[in-house]
Amino acid sequence: MDSEHTKTFFIETFGCQMNFHDSEKVIGTLVQQGYHQVQTVEEADLVFYNTCSIRDKAEQKVFNRLNEYKKLQNQGKKFAVIGCVAQQEGEKIFEKAPYVSLVAGSASYRNLPKMLVQIEQGSRATGLDDRQTDETFETEFTARSNPHRGYITIIEGCDKFCAYCVVPYTRGKERSRTSDSVLGEARRMADAGYTDIQLLGQNVNSYKDPLARKSFAELLTAVGEINGIRRVRFTTSHPRDFTKDIVDAIDALPTLCDHVHLPVQSGSTAVLASMYREYSREQYLERVSWMKSARRHISMTSDIIVGFPGETESEFEETLSLIQEVGYDSIFTFKYSPRPNTPAIDREDSIPEEEKTRRLQVLNDVQREISRANYAKHLGQTLEVMVEGYNPARGQIIGRTSQNKTLNFSIPDGHPQPKIGSYVEAVVTKTLPNSLVGELAASANSAAAD
Ligand code: 5AD
Ligand code: SF4
Repeated sequence: MDSEHTKTFFIETFGCQMNFHDSEKVIGTLVQQGYHQVQTVEEADLVFYNTCSIRDKAEQKVFNRLNEYKKLQNQGKKFAVIGCVAQQEGEKIFEKAPYVSLVAGSASYRNLPKMLVQIEQGSRATGLDDRQTDETFETEFTARSNPHRGYITIIEGCDKFCAYCVVPYTRGKERSRTSDSVLGEARRMADAGYTDIQLLGQNVNSYKDPLARKSFAELLTAVGEINGIRRVRFTTSHPRDFTKDIVDAIDALPTLCDHVHLPVQSGSTAVLASMYREYSREQYLERVSWMKSARRHISMTSDIIVGFPGETESEFEETLSLIQEVGYDSIFTFKYSPRPNTPAIDREDSIPEEEKTRRLQVLNDVQREISRANYAKHLGQTLEVMVEGYNPARGQIIGRTSQNKTLNFSIPDGHPQPKIGSYVEAVVTKTLPNSLVGELAASANSAAAD
């Protein structure tokens, strides 16, 4: 790359919030190394592709995209494949796409500056051997794309080895950051004007402070007590490690959002056992009962897989009865797909595609009615929202409630638009299965521009 012009990079990101936040850290690292981010592949000297391999034919999609890059190799561009597919496919990426310069999994990102030097010198770099590391990727240079709400990683990797899941293979073993370092980052964010923080990890509940200063619930509380922080969320939770002190913390401190995403995956104890989830339906429901007996109304959401190998009709029906018993506000639903390296890959993918599609549809239909009924309970309530954006076509302001629900609201004619990132109150005037509609609360009129 010539040193006359600023080195440029483009990055495309797929996958979960962890991946999205990894990209924010990768961008920060690249900028710190003198690179400038551009918005198109055409303008870039270096093209980063941060991949996800959680479901479906992820590998194929990656190789298709790399084929598109092939045409651009003559323009002197360099290509970097990072993230979960990079870790999973490893050197195979170089074989199939020899014009790629860097293949690295997330456990190696702390070595990015070194790897960048290698590829600038024209050699290939790999970061594939770090999954057993005890280190995390910490950088002061995170390029957060939203100035009001931001992620903080508290734990990387996963040691749970659920039968369907690639994460332990792609992201490596569990390793937690010290609570001091997490709190330091949260305080710096609060000083920079952030008010909404989301603590991230594949399994935040198994957080273990390396210096043994704080449990997960204590860390949550400490972040929520930082001056200036108004909302703290966390994701993702694992029922096995989800303890009652987390619910008590939420109940005690209003800055901790009244929402818990607690993926159940199935309502059948037999299916859960075959998924290696390490809890039964009853144990899951016990955790739900803690939340239901809290003083605050805690919104619950979940992830569910249908068509896991061997799932019978009556086991599927147990999932239907579970979602009714819990009364989730919303769920993410997936058809089981076999993933490389996972324990379930050796089992017959026994539920036909059409049957998986049918179960998914039934599940979503049942959930839609539960969501509709839950959302309807908000009618007439005054809720605090963080302003996230505007929808000029509808003349509405887009807001998010503490329970993570979208509340689109209107403001009186001539009233100044509340600023993005500010908090206002809105009265719910209409409810839909997945969102709320309302008007700026009269009492909030004066505070709207704060
Ligand atoms: N097939 C289908 N869904 C999966 N998930 C994870 N692995 C698979 C798979 N092999 C779902 C789980 C998880 C969510 C992030 O993705 O529900 O909670
Ligand atoms: Fe996808 Fe899982 Fe990797 Fe996130 S951790 S990017 S969901 S495979």
